Amino acid sequence: MSKIIEKYAELPKLFRKPLWQWWHKKMNKYDSGNIANFMNYGFEYLNGDVRIQLKEQDETDRYCIQLYDHVVNKVDLKGKDVLEVGAGRGGGASYITRYYEPKSYIGMDITQSSIDFCNKHYKDVDGLTFTCGNAEKLPFDDSLFDFVVNVESARCYNDQVAFFNEVFRVLKPDGKLLLADMIYPAEMDNFRSIINQSGFNITQETNISQNVVSALEKDSERRENLIDTKIPKFMRKSFKTFAGTLGTSRYNNFATGIFQYLSFVLEKQKK
Ligand SMILES: C[S@@+](CC[C@H](N)C(=O)[O-])C[C@H]1O[C@@H](n2cnc3c(N)ncnc32)[C@H](O)[C@@H]1O
Repeated sequence: MSKIIEKYAELPKLFRKPLWQWWHKKMNKYDSGNIANFMNYGFEYLNGDVRIQLKEQDETDRYCIQLYDHVVNKVDLKGKDVLEVGAGRGGGASYITRYYEPKSYIGMDITQSSIDFCNKHYKDVDGLTFTCGNAEKLPFDDSLFDFVVNVESARCYNDQVAFFNEVFRVLKPDGKLLLADMIYPAEMDNFRSIINQSGFNITQETNISQNVVSALEKDSERRENLIDTKIPKFMRKSFKTFAGTLGTSRYNNFATGIFQYLSFVLEKQKK
């Protein structure tokens, strides 16, 4: 099972979506409490860069929050309309809404059980709502959002061209897509070319692989403990692979550079 989890993005397209939804249903079943609010590999500052200040309640999720912060801190979100595609269990949506004060923030995900989790756990955050929808066919009118946020999700999509076209459509004329994801080096040229063909300018591209490896190293114990307490024994190895804990193939692939992690700021060009 852990091999399938490691390689899900290489599975035939037909199998990816059901596998993904089954996996997230399991996760939402095993952790119905408010514990795992994130599903990304995290980000740690390097070379003595100053860490962001967090409220005590957010310290547990520091590394996952730092990834979100890295993705959005290059723009001014205050008073803006923001859509997040692939919001997962809503931790990033909640962090950005509370700390960056957009006018509105919609967290969207294809997994209904994750949306149910979010609606239950973040109902007190002003300006934040959640809805179920597919990244490849966004359930929104044209030109609605100033920013679209996308963290560690685009890699799962069957049709990335459709995703970028859809984001282009729902962004306002000067809107931006703020995206971070993992990628094999051999796929990078194709990924950049899809971005350009959809009408986006790459205004910033940063390789954050070392930041992600450092975060995984520092967060590994917390992730292991969480999995050991929440997940039945027979599923733990698969969950640890998915979580990238030390010694798993996912962690090793990041540490040896087989998998890279990139972040982008993409600006909508006038077509
Ligand atoms: C690795 S998780 C990341 C979640 C969240 N961004 C985070 O950092 O915690 C990827 C998310 O993308 C969602 N996803 C996968 N395919 C999708 C699609 N076609 N449309 C919308 N969401 C999708 C999954 O349900 C999952 O919640």
